[in-house]
Amino acid sequence: MRVICTISEIREIIREWKKEGFSVGFVPTMGYLHEGHKSLIEKASSENQRVVVSTFVNPTQFGANEDLNKYPRDLERDTNLCEKAGAHIMFVPSADEMYPTTPLTFVNVNILTEGLCGEKRPGHFQGVCSVVTKLFNIITPNRAYFGEKDAQQLAVIRQMVKDLNMDVKIIGCPIIRENDGLAKSSRNTYLSDEERKAALILNKSLKHANELLLEGEKNTEKIIESIKSFIISEPLAKIDYVQIVDSETLKSVDKIEKPVLIAIAVFIGKTRLIDNFTWSN
Ligand code: PAJ
Repeated sequence: MRVICTISEIREIIREWKKEGFSVGFVPTMGYLHEGHKSLIEKASSENQRVVVSTFVNPTQFGANEDLNKYPRDLERDTNLCEKAGAHIMFVPSADEMYPTTPLTFVNVNILTEGLCGEKRPGHFQGVCSVVTKLFNIITPNRAYFGEKDAQQLAVIRQMVKDLNMDVKIIGCPIIRENDGLAKSSRNTYLSDEERKAALILNKSLKHANELLLEGEKNTEKIIESIKSFIISEPLAKIDYVQIVDSETLKSVDKIEKPVLIAIAVFIGKTRLIDNFTWSN
């Protein structure tokens, strides 16, 4: 596996691959990779002849008070994980390589970005869509892999690709969790031991919601309230949002009739964690 830092070099390699007729799978990440990322890379490597993983902490998707400067980084560890998972190239551009001048062009997906994380993190999805478009233009993958952990991001990217006729197939991959149920996240590294235990409240509250749904509860307000009281029983937890939305439109629903996304964002101390599941019956 090779680590490539410039756009011109990776374009050259991909041009050669395409000449050979190789299919290219692409996994965009921000690095500090874990089993969740690994599952995406393994899937990409099982479905494509060549696999590129990018690790780039994209400054344009972080808000002013967010964790851009302390976002964890460990290139050596990431390189080992990528190699083991079957990647051929790691693309690790610098911020100057990606943004040599201040960009004047952005990609915005409307409506789908209005609620959930979009409402809480203004500008976030513009940053994500713009950098993913740039990466797609650089890598020109046949398939690109995204985790359901970031369910809104996955829906937004699918819409962007459809609306802009991008020639890439978007593949969604299931959430990978720790043994105790906490969704794997690069941000879990911020948690102290005590916070790590408290963070279990995210998955527990979703399991509780799942039970209510299995019992036949259809009123979303009741389910949301029940999730909220579950979360606030944990003293270190502070709710950012608890929402139940149509899994396609991402609009809030009052009654469970069609498949829905139950999505939560919770601060554990200063660390903001997200989790979700989709319910359909
Ligand atoms: P990052 O948070 O590094 O995530 C990269 C990919 O890994 C995303 O598609 C995310 O959904 C997936 N992922 C993260 N944790 C996961 C888990 N526990 N199980 C399954 N998949 C998981 O998402 C981003 O980076 C950025 O926004 C990016 C798309 C790279 C644009 O900068």
